[in-house]
Amino acid sequence: MKNKILVTGGAGYIGSHTCIALHEAGYDIVVYDNLSNSSREAIERVSKLIDQPIDFVKGDIRDTDLLKQVFAEHQFFGVIHFAGLKAVGESVAKPLLYYNNNVSGTIALLEVMREADVKNLVFSSSATVYGDPESLPINEESKRSCTNPYGQSKLMVEHILEDLAATDDGWNLIPLRYFNPVGAHPSGQIGEDPNDIPNNLMPYISQVAVGKLEKLSIFGNDYSTVDGTGVRDFIHVTDLAQGHVAALNYLQKQVGRDKYSSIGFLPINLGTGKGTSVLELVTAFSEVSGQNIPYQFSARRAGDIASCYASADKAKDLLGWEATLSITEMCQDTWRWQSKNPNGYHSA
Ligand code: NAD
Ligand code: UFG
Repeated sequence: MKNKILVTGGAGYIGSHTCIALHEAGYDIVVYDNLSNSSREAIERVSKLIDQPIDFVKGDIRDTDLLKQVFAEHQFFGVIHFAGLKAVGESVAKPLLYYNNNVSGTIALLEVMREADVKNLVFSSSATVYGDPESLPINEESKRSCTNPYGQSKLMVEHILEDLAATDDGWNLIPLRYFNPVGAHPSGQIGEDPNDIPNNLMPYISQVAVGKLEKLSIFGNDYSTVDGTGVRDFIHVTDLAQGHVAALNYLQKQVGRDKYSSIGFLPINLGTGKGTSVLELVTAFSEVSGQNIPYQFSARRAGDIASCYASADKAKDLLGWEATLSITEMCQDTWRWQSKNPNGYHSA
């Protein structure tokens, strides 16, 4: 069985952690990334952690000539497709950028894959495709709807993948719907490195803890949740990385079993199944880091929902995967990364 994987966006936050997990699981990887939201330093550090050079191509997924060249040089079993832009606010201001990068970029990749007859894909989707859920926990059959261009771009790609699967042309397509990825590699060498002021909760908390930001604003304390603050399903990025390995192993098994029948479109949630409130996360982080984390309550953030957590049953049943790491471990590993690298990869 071929075990070489193209990892688009492999220099990014989730991609870099997944590269390590793939290597440990015996996969060979080629990373393809335009470094629009990441750095060579991340690649260097992954390479040190796995004690092996990374086969890295600096390129854009919309550059089909370069992609074709990469597919001609390697015999891939499949692709894990992380490459994409992910800032919700920026997507509202620059919708064309998001649709071009995330949707046109994915179409370009799929066309090259079809031409190369590589039809196994794991795609980074998001719990954002569920919008404001009608009931909890959210399972894969729940209604999908999105309001912002970032979410729409993920949903559009899912629809494209569904249509592709319906052609019955041998495609095996697994969109993994991530809940809220947090944490860092236990070495403290790689982690999340946002440009500018973080939009997401965990990097904001950790930058307050390390003294880079003064105070956290908690967006809303009047939701009908355990303590009035928003509830999310935080998942450790190394658990998430293992989820990708499990999805690939599943594809290998299915394709190996019967190469004439494809699995089509198979969406799977990657979450813990547990909800944690914003205040609970702040308290856990403060305890783990020993730092005071000043906060104030402010108005709800437009577009936010009260609660969101996964049913993680499908991943367990089909992939044999489940998250293992606790909120405490998520905070410990985030804190190790943040305190060792107060300025992210620029600390080097
Ligand atoms: P990230 O920004 O750290 O990583 C994305 C990587 O893709 C970056 O290295 C970037 O340089 C690269 N990239 C972007 N556009 C590209 C292009 N056109 N060609 C080549 N490379 C390109 O983000 P992440 O947090 O690691 O997220 C990875 C994927 O998971 C994204 O698709 C994101 O939308 C999705 N996702 C992330 C979250 C989250 O909270 N982090 C949640 C759900 C889904
Ligand atoms: N929050 C604050 N203050 C902050 C940042 C966030 O109170 O400074 C709150 C939010 O209001 C929300 C919770 O923390 O209640 C989580 O917010 P995040 O921005 O960390 O995460 P979201 O759940 O809003 O969205 C994230 C990603 C999306 C992705 C979604 C589901 O940003 O791209 O998870 O995977 F789609």
